[in-house]
Amino acid sequence: MKITIIGGGYVGLVTGACFADTGHDTTIIDVDPAKVAMINEKRAPIFEPGLESILLRAIGKNLRASLSYDSVGTSDLTFICVGTPPNDDGSANLSYIESASRSIGTALQKSTGFHVVVVKSTVPPGTTETVVCPAVLAFAHKTGDEIAFAMNPEFLREGRAIEDFRKPDRIVIGSSQPRAGDRVAEVYRTFSAPVVRTGLAAAEMIKYTSNAFLATKISFSNEIGNICKDLGIDVYEVMEGVGLDQRIGPKFLDAGAGFGGSCFPKDVSSLSVLAGRAGVDPKILRAVLDVNEEQPYRLVALLEKKTGNLSGKRIAVLGLAFKDNTDDVRDSRSIPVIQELLKKGARVIAFDPMAGQNMQKIFPAIEYAGSAGDALNGADGCLVMTEWPEFGRIDKEFELMAHRIVIEGRRILSWNGAEGICW
Ligand code: UGA
Repeated sequence: MKITIIGGGYVGLVTGACFADTGHDTTIIDVDPAKVAMINEKRAPIFEPGLESILLRAIGKNLRASLSYDSVGTSDLTFICVGTPPNDDGSANLSYIESASRSIGTALQKSTGFHVVVVKSTVPPGTTETVVCPAVLAFAHKTGDEIAFAMNPEFLREGRAIEDFRKPDRIVIGSSQPRAGDRVAEVYRTFSAPVVRTGLAAAEMIKYTSNAFLATKISFSNEIGNICKDLGIDVYEVMEGVGLDQRIGPKFLDAGAGFGGSCFPKDVSSLSVLAGRAGVDPKILRAVLDVNEEQPYRLVALLEKKTGNLSGKRIAVLGLAFKDNTDDVRDSRSIPVIQELLKKGARVIAFDPMAGQNMQKIFPAIEYAGSAGDALNGADGCLVMTEWPEFGRIDKEFELMAHRIVIEGRRILSWNGAEGICW
């Protein structure tokens, strides 16, 4: 099929590349000329394992990036993959969705034939119907007979997105009319995953609910972990026993420093705002966010209990990315940790295999080490903040510390001298 993707950010680029890899003719549209040029030069503007090799295979064949909306008019489907960043009150900012919808409408003015506009961005329930549909139709000067709408949320995890795209647990397709949904289903014809067909708003809600539930699992594990810590119990032993219950499942029960990234914090906040507007007090969602906000401070408090006053102490922070396998530091739990350490007068020496440069934009004044060993050399304490597998191999480097006080915010070390935040 001929597909246009609006937005060459994380979701748009991975989705576009994977659609091309599946055999579809795909154009990715972005407003950033540097990004468009990079993609067309077969270079990935973001780090994602496996992405660049798809660009190498597909660019020049059935994948291209463009600044212009020209391809929309001749495509079978257009996927909206633009960002929905949070407003100050936690609600989702829909301005990129609105402007993409207007541009798609304009591009469809002269087109003939049936076209489907699909929202892939994470949006509050009702957005496709009340924001996207009217804007596209008004700017295209067309009716719902010629253009129909669908909502197809993504469930990709950063760092594992290509693998998640190829082997989804399910494909959710919400649509305004069956033939719009049928056309989206056709795109995924070769996939073996179950397809869930719903209305537009239900598909939008499935995405929010999935992320909110996963975030709830994490905060729940962290609360149990905080209780376990006080009782001298290892929460990982507990969750192993709990997760084997098939009704519960073993995934997303890893206690630690809490969840970060561009999705969970933003989506749970946005859902809380929606709840408020619906007259529902979001007690559980608020607790999920509260527990998450508190974990980084618990980590620093535990470190301080061991090292004494942190003022003037050299503290190594291992891991800056919000999780392993990415250079993304958005809402990383390292950010409040470093802020708190600096507030307490500590000298921070940070190391991350990939995310140092991105964190430098947030904390330009702290020291960045070239390796874990360099960060640990002479340190009075260490906090482990990201589950990078290579941290599991750190051993002799801990001997370089002035005082061997190591607190894990993620369970990753095999060295047995560390203490965990919840274990
Ligand atoms: C998340 C969802 O997992 C994806 O399904 C979804 O598509 C994506 O958001 C999105 O909405 O775009 P992502 O943010 O890439 O994906 O990362 P996750 O692997 O889910 O991890 C999120 C955070 O939770 C990380 O900080 C991670 O360290 C933390 N986490 C995860 C825990 O603290 N404990 C766990 O057991 C699992």
